[in-house]
Amino acid sequence: MTTLSPLTWNPGSWRRFEAKQQPTWPDPAELERVEKELSAVPPLVFAGEARALRERLAEVAAGKAFLLQAGDCAESFDGFAADAIRDKLRVVLQMAVVLTYSAGVPTVKVGRIAGQFAKPRSSPTETIDGTELPSFLGHMVNDIAFSPGDRIPDPNRLLQAYNQSASTLNLLRAFTKGGFADLRQVQAWNQEFVAASPAGQRYADLGNEIDRALKFMEAAGISSNHPEINEADFYTSHEALILQYEEALTRQDSLTGKWYDCSAHMVWVGERTRQLSGAHVEFFRGINNPIGCKIGPTATPDDVVGLCDALDPQREAGRLTLIVRLGADNVEAGLPPLLEAVRDSGHPVVWACDPMHGNTYTSKSGRKTRHLDSIMAEVSGFFAAHRAAGTWPGGIHVELTGDDVTECVGGTFEVADADLPTRYETMCDPRLNAGQSLDLAFRLAELLR
Ligand code: PEP
Ligand code: CO
Repeated sequence: MTTLSPLTWNPGSWRRFEAKQQPTWPDPAELERVEKELSAVPPLVFAGEARALRERLAEVAAGKAFLLQAGDCAESFDGFAADAIRDKLRVVLQMAVVLTYSAGVPTVKVGRIAGQFAKPRSSPTETIDGTELPSFLGHMVNDIAFSPGDRIPDPNRLLQAYNQSASTLNLLRAFTKGGFADLRQVQAWNQEFVAASPAGQRYADLGNEIDRALKFMEAAGISSNHPEINEADFYTSHEALILQYEEALTRQDSLTGKWYDCSAHMVWVGERTRQLSGAHVEFFRGINNPIGCKIGPTATPDDVVGLCDALDPQREAGRLTLIVRLGADNVEAGLPPLLEAVRDSGHPVVWACDPMHGNTYTSKSGRKTRHLDSIMAEVSGFFAAHRAAGTWPGGIHVELTGDDVTECVGGTFEVADADLPTRYETMCDPRLNAGQSLDLAFRLAELLR
């Protein structure tokens, strides 16, 4: 086994290690041509922005802020109308307002957006009615349609992913800096179908309070024309799975000479690719973005501390976010030993709870789903474990959409098992709809108070 050494890192040094979950590209020359093209395109984000997020995450690590990381399981090349992007942003802004206003904690908003196009899969193939084909690996790689041609990896999709990320990010910047995210719009973020739900009504009440507070400020002669009120900071993130794409967008910052993966502000390593001697960990250790690492139920305290040592050797707050996804049934027993080991190792990590990926099951109707009760139970267990260890439950990592989908069951505006086929639209894992997302935000606010 090659040993990791900081001296030998470069954006392509991951190629010396085994990379799991990679597509079998049929035409390596075509892939190489695309990589070359990508390495010449403008970066999607700037190093300075990634550093700004790192500073915000350092506040989270210090227990002074809360991380809200949310978006699609997999973005689509098809469902990419401006409305869909706006509605996703809306839900995140709503959740952040609930958290900040009800719990008094600043919220760092990070989307699983503008680059979340590649998926690791538990099985390399999928069988429907006796036909076996390669699995769908995300629109960055192949198509979800079930035919042999659609499932062949096509490197030109890397370019399309870049282009779609660029226009998504452009729209997000316009929405967050151009008035849409103004706190005085807090009521306008409540979509009609959400407003009808109990969580939507609760949100409308909270919006009224905020409106009154802002009017009071104005009447008292305090202008609400501040970027803190008129604008929102919103960062992008995705699982950096396809390393050729990430390498091509990794650039050296002219100011500091350090390397940044400029495909997103934050990137994370998935549960299936976090091997210490694997290509993904090698790539991640050399980029200076804030990074995440998923931690599933098989990770031992030694594994987790080993990952901290590899990915955060300088012990810098804001550098590493551990995104734990143990499952509601495992969190109570499984989390405390991890918290204690990392606490004792001195790595100032952000702990985020992903209550989605450990709680997926197949419903009676045959669809993959998650129950809001399990999601809430994992979140509660996460908070309880942190209280006991004296550590800060720093954030939440969830799959959601602004649309009125029926993919997860439960919620105060209940989605029942029989409702699942009505609007089951996800490209991959089941997402919370806007009402369920608000339910979760109110629960989180109670836990944070
Ligand atoms: C995901 O976040 O969509 C995902 C695949 O998660 P994990 O790596 O934790 O399974
Ligand atoms: Co997912």
